[in-house]
Amino acid sequence: MQPGSTQDPAPLPWLTRLQALFDQKYRLSRALVGRAMDGFGAEWAADFESVLETFCADDEALQAAVKGYVAFAMDSMRRQKAFEASGAYPVKSYAQAADEVYLNDAHMMQEYLPGLLLSHFLWPHHYRQLRFFDTAFVAPMALGAQPRFAEVGVGTALYSRRLLSRVARATGAGYDISPSSCRFAERHLAAAGLDQRYTMHQHDVLDGGLDPVPWLVCVEVLEHLERPVEFLRALRAGLAPGGKAFITAALNAAHADHIYLYRSGEEVLAHLHAAGFVLEQSFVATAHAPASAGAPVPAAAAFVVC
Ligand SMILES: C[S@@+](CC[C@H](N)C(=O)[O-])C[C@H]1O[C@@H](n2cnc3c(N)ncnc32)[C@H](O)[C@@H]1O
Repeated sequence: MQPGSTQDPAPLPWLTRLQALFDQKYRLSRALVGRAMDGFGAEWAADFESVLETFCADDEALQAAVKGYVAFAMDSMRRQKAFEASGAYPVKSYAQAADEVYLNDAHMMQEYLPGLLLSHFLWPHHYRQLRFFDTAFVAPMALGAQPRFAEVGVGTALYSRRLLSRVARATGAGYDISPSSCRFAERHLAAAGLDQRYTMHQHDVLDGGLDPVPWLVCVEVLEHLERPVEFLRALRAGLAPGGKAFITAALNAAHADHIYLYRSGEEVLAHLHAAGFVLEQSFVATAHAPASAGAPVPAAAAFVVC
């Protein structure tokens, strides 16, 4: 498969190199680019290319990112098999997950964050969620009078990047407990030339201090918590009157730091209601068809709430 093989192909050097790495070294992943091209087309390719070119300063950085992605994906697959057999995530406290993952700098910088960044484009349910974000949240924010936002649990900063790059007047603040995520996010946004309109804070929003904003984003954090409703109440307090929030959760998806098992979008919605949010729009995308009727399938559930 040649990425960009349309009638008038735009050059996609980073995506072409990524495909070559999969072909040469990680053959289990070699179909991912072609599948995404078939499913999402040239827009996906240009979108991913722009992220790869700012994120990877050189070929060595791309190789490291791909290696990290493959380790991240393999670890997830192994945990998913165990989850499918047991029907539960292993019991783990938030503090244990933080020690094992968020505060483990080598793991965060070499596997978790590059893995997550690439998964936003290589895993169809993650990319579908990103496109829902574009239409349900980025577009209305671009039309709004006050494009000031906060993102909680910034991780890779991909969602913040999207707001800053697509809404010219946007200013943002990012909050994350992980020093590695803060550093990764700052580097990512600086490489994209977007850091002048953004401040990054290493901070647990459960400790308060979230300055209320009209636009609030929190992607894939709820399943990382012991008591998601408590966290959602802290987010609700950080939403200015009349504001909108984009909040997501991973369903039926085992990862090293997933400790709260959401089995359906309805369960997440019940937590959003309990925290005082009102639903405006929602979206669920599954990773693939179930292996058998009723078998759990990883999914992304996203909500625009006010
Ligand atoms: C799965 S990642 C989020 C993905 C990210 N939104 C992205 O798009 O790349 C989870 C992030 O939430 C952060 N996190 C976990 N608990 C948090 C808390 N209480 N307050 C702020 N950030 C938190 C972790 O450090 C990690 O960076």
